[in-house]
Amino acid sequence: MRYSNLLFKSNLKHIPIKLMPAIIATAPGKAILFGEHAVVYKRPAIAVPVTKVRSKAIIVANPIGGKNKVTIEAPDINLFSTLEELDLNHPIAVAIHLMMKKLNISELPAFSLRVTSTIPIASGLGSSASTAIVIIRALNDFIGGNLSNKEINQLAFEVEIIHHGTPSGIDNSVITSSQPVFFITGKRIQRLKVGVPLRFIIGNTGIKSLTSDIVAEVKKEWQINPQAYEVIFNRIRQITLEAKKIIAKGDKKELGQLMNKNHEALQDLNVSCKELDILVNAAKQAGALGAKLCGAGRGGNMISLIENNTAPIVEKALMDAGAISIITTLVKRI
Ligand code: MEV
Repeated sequence: MRYSNLLFKSNLKHIPIKLMPAIIATAPGKAILFGEHAVVYKRPAIAVPVTKVRSKAIIVANPIGGKNKVTIEAPDINLFSTLEELDLNHPIAVAIHLMMKKLNISELPAFSLRVTSTIPIASGLGSSASTAIVIIRALNDFIGGNLSNKEINQLAFEVEIIHHGTPSGIDNSVITSSQPVFFITGKRIQRLKVGVPLRFIIGNTGIKSLTSDIVAEVKKEWQINPQAYEVIFNRIRQITLEAKKIIAKGDKKELGQLMNKNHEALQDLNVSCKELDILVNAAKQAGALGAKLCGAGRGGNMISLIENNTAPIVEKALMDAGAISIITTLVKRI
C-alpha cells in the first residue's frame, strides 16, 4: 500500500514526525533557444532544460496535524503559511487546489510542504513553471494520484495560465519532459534531434522582468500594428525551422548565426533592453558563436553558444560587462 494511503490509519499517529519518509520532487529550469514570443502566436520554438538550476518540493506527512492541516514553507520568497491562510490566487495554492480538483478530493491528509529553488525568479529561466511542476509531482506521489507526465504538464500549464495570462505552454512542456523540445502550441511536443553536444553560457542581467507584463505589452503592440508584428513572427518562425535542421546536423557556426538573427528579431519586437544587448555583444566579442536574449526579455537572461575552449573568456567577458551570475549548460547529443 502506498505510504500516503496509510496516513489515514490511526496507528501511524505514533510514528515520530522525524521518522516520516519525505517525498521529494525536483525539476530543472529552462532556456528558450529560438522562438520566444512568436510561440505565443502559434509559431514554433525550441527550448532546452537547464539542469544546473533546479526547484525542489519536499512533502512530509504530519499525522498529528488533522485533516487539511497543510503547512507551506517557501523561504526563497519569505513565505511561511498554512494552506488555509494562503491567498487562493497564490501559485502554490493554485497548484494544490488544481491537483485536488483533478483527483476529485475535497480533503487532504495533513502534511508540510517545503519549496525551494535555485532558478532565478522572474528572469526567463522557467522558475514559475518548474515550481508548479515539483509541487504537483510531490503531491501526486504523496496522495497516490498516479498522474502521468502529460497530466502533470497540463496541470502546470493551468497554473501558468492563471499567472501569465496567455502562456504558450513551452516552459511547462520542456521542464516536464527534461529534454530539448521543438514546440508548437496545441501540437504534440517533439523531442529535438541534437547532432553534436552544444555548450551554452547563460548570463543574468540581474533585472527582474515579469513574463506576463511583457507578453501583454507585445500583445498590445501586435493589436496596434498586426501586419508589422506578423512579419517579425514569421521571420522568427523561419529562423526556428532552420535552427531545428541545423541542430540535428550539428553545425555550431551556423547555429550561432541563427541565434544572432533571432536576437535581432527580438530587438525589432522591442523586448530587448540595453543591458541584454550589452551582454549579447560582450559574449560575441569574446568569441561566442552566437548570442541572444532568452525568455520574455527586458531583463532576465541571455544565452550564448560557445566552443569548449572559449568558456572562461566568454564567462569573464560577461561578468566584466555587468552579468550578476553565469550558468553553463551542456545539451548532449541525442
Ligand atoms: C517565456 O519563457 C516565453 C514567452 O514566449 C512566453 C510564452 O511562451 O509563454 C515569452
